[in-house]
Amino acid sequence: MPVSARYSTPQILLHWAIAVLIVVNWFLGDGMGWALKQKLEGTPITGTKISLHVWIGVAVLVLVLIRLVLRLKQGAPALLGHGFLDRMAEWMHWTLYALMVVGPLLGAISWFQNMPALGDPHALLMNVLLWLAGLHAAAALYHQFILKDGLLSRMRPM
Ligand code: HEM
Ligand code: HEM
Repeated sequence: MPVSARYSTPQILLHWAIAVLIVVNWFLGDGMGWALKQKLEGTPITGTKISLHVWIGVAVLVLVLIRLVLRLKQGAPALLGHGFLDRMAEWMHWTLYALMVVGPLLGAISWFQNMPALGDPHALLMNVLLWLAGLHAAAALYHQFILKDGLLSRMRPM
C-alpha cells in the first residue's frame, strides 16, 4: 500500500540536517582523544578540526532536542500496518534518538568537565549510532525500491 502522509517540514529539514552533521562530525572525531589529553595537561587547544568537532557536536545535540520536542508535539505519520516490522521500526527510531542525545552529551561532558573516562563510551556510542543509521537507511531504501511503497516521500523535503 503506498504511503501518503509526511512528517512536518521542520521535522524533515531537521532529519536531514542532523544526519549530515552526524556523518561529518564522525569523520572529524579522529584526533579528539589526543586533543582531550592535551587539554587535560593544560596545553592551549588550537585547531579548526577540534573546534569544529566540539561545536558541530553541540549543534547536533541542540537540534536533536528541538526535533524531539517537535516529534512529541506533532507526532509521526501512521505506522505501515506490518505488525512486527512496525515494532522494529519504532524501536530503531527511538534507539537512534536515544543515541543522538546520550552520545554527544557524553562527548560534551568529557570535554567541558575534563572527564576522559567518558571519551571511550562517547566514541563507542557514536560508532554504534553510525552503524544503526546505516541499517536504518538500508531499510528505507528497501521500502522505496524493493517494496515500492514510497516510504521515502515521508522524509522528502517539498
Ligand atoms: C545519521 C543518519 C540518520 C539518522 C540518525 C536518522 C534518524 C531517523 C529517525 C530517528 C527517524 C524517526 C523519525 C520519527 O519518527 O520521529 C527517521 C526516519 C526516517 N528516515 Fe532517517 N536517519 C538517518 C539517515 C537516513 C537516510 C540516509 C535515509 C534514506 C536513505 C533515511 C530515511 C528515513 C525515512 C524514510 C524515515 C521515515 C520512516 C518512517 O516513517 O517509518 N534516514 N530517521
Ligand atoms: C554528532 C555528534 C558527534 C559525533 C558523531 C562524534 C564522533 C566521535 C568519534 C567517532 C570519536 C572517536 C574518534 C577516534 O577515536 O578516532 C569521537 C571522540 C571524541 N569526541 Fe565526539 N562526536 C560527537 C559529538 C561530540 C561533542 C558534542 C563533543 C564535545 C563537546 C565531543 C568530544 C569528543 C572527544 C573529547 C573525543 C575523544 C574521546 C576520547 O578518545 O577520549 N564529541 N567523537
